[in-house]
Amino acid sequence: MAIYLDHAATSPLRPEVLEAMLPYLTEHTGNPSSLHAAGRRARQGIDEARETLAALIGAAPREIVFTAGGTEADNLALKGVAWAASPRGKHVVISAVEHKAVLNAAAILERSGFEVTTLPVDRYGRVDPADVAEALTDRTTLVSVMAANNEVGTLQPIEEIGALVRAHHARFHVDAVQWAAHLPIDVDAWQADLVSLSAHKLGGPKGVGALFVRRGTQLLPQVQGGSQERQRRAGTENVPGIVGMAAAFASVHAELDQEGDRQRGLAEQLRDGLLAHEGITLTGDPKRRLPNNVSVVVEGVEGGDLVAALDLEGIEVSTGSACTSGSTEPSHVLLAMGIDPHTAHGSLRMTLGRETTAADVARTLDVLTDVLPRLRGAGMPAAVEA
Ligand SMILES: Cc1ncc(COP(=O)(O)O)c(C=O)c1O
Repeated sequence: MAIYLDHAATSPLRPEVLEAMLPYLTEHTGNPSSLHAAGRRARQGIDEARETLAALIGAAPREIVFTAGGTEADNLALKGVAWAASPRGKHVVISAVEHKAVLNAAAILERSGFEVTTLPVDRYGRVDPADVAEALTDRTTLVSVMAANNEVGTLQPIEEIGALVRAHHARFHVDAVQWAAHLPIDVDAWQADLVSLSAHKLGGPKGVGALFVRRGTQLLPQVQGGSQERQRRAGTENVPGIVGMAAAFASVHAELDQEGDRQRGLAEQLRDGLLAHEGITLTGDPKRRLPNNVSVVVEGVEGGDLVAALDLEGIEVSTGSACTSGSTEPSHVLLAMGIDPHTAHGSLRMTLGRETTAADVARTLDVLTDVLPRLRGAGMPAAVEA
């Protein structure tokens, strides 16, 4: 069995989630908009899921909009709010380390005549709330800062930023896709108006997510069609997916503290073992980070080569770099943290999950000890076979 250390990419479907979904794939297969019994049964599944999810994040059920994933939730938040509020101002603020879903939604807004301010981060990937305060103008309608970074795991000072944005009467969007898999959410404590969530990062199905939209927040729907989701997101609902998402949130959030402590302990062992090697440096905030995230840069090695070498040994990890048309671009997150492009090429991310054991960590460290000198001996950059 492979050792899977890529839970930030996606996390395997939990058995209890599959169990919750199955009746909605086999028995309760009506269209939730239908008035007959089959439709009403499907509607009941969605209503219950909405209540479960809302209660877990301190929201009201009507403030939850189900989407086809975190990417769609981010797009709906950015474009939906920016356009709806555009008569008052066309200025949006984001951070430099956001997920591509936010970065590229903001880029489209920019091309449509909006002004976008991108906040810098420090060497740990943290946004300084003072920079947020400085960026706010009387034209600012929306600020979007992620709760936890998907590459380096850094946690942002969300409550402080939320207070600033609220005082300025702008809307605050938080991408909590990674945060939600490990830490509790209280949308009021964050003073957030919009929060993006995704099911597959915490043992739910892929292709389903949600956007919390605070009551009174104006939103221009991005998908036109029927009147589903209170006219905020058209299209027949993904009933099994939505039921699975709520089941995954309920299951993960019931064991949050216990699993957080366990995974933090294992992550620390993995981190210490890695840092014992020469030329390996931790990336991200050493203290304020996701409990399951170990991300490093490895000197003298291409991250992609390391991923491939570990894969051959049955260990599945990730590099922070995004692959674009065959060439490996250094990660925008690492570059924003001031890491030079050459060093950023050696990035490696390992993210633990519920099934990760101490034996998995020990084996990973053994394999790395074996593989690293070999790869370093091969020199950098390594040859790539076409
Ligand atoms: C921080 C963050 N935001 C958004 C997304 C997109 O979520 P999804 O894969 O559900 O579209 C991801 C997943 O990669 C993520 O890590």
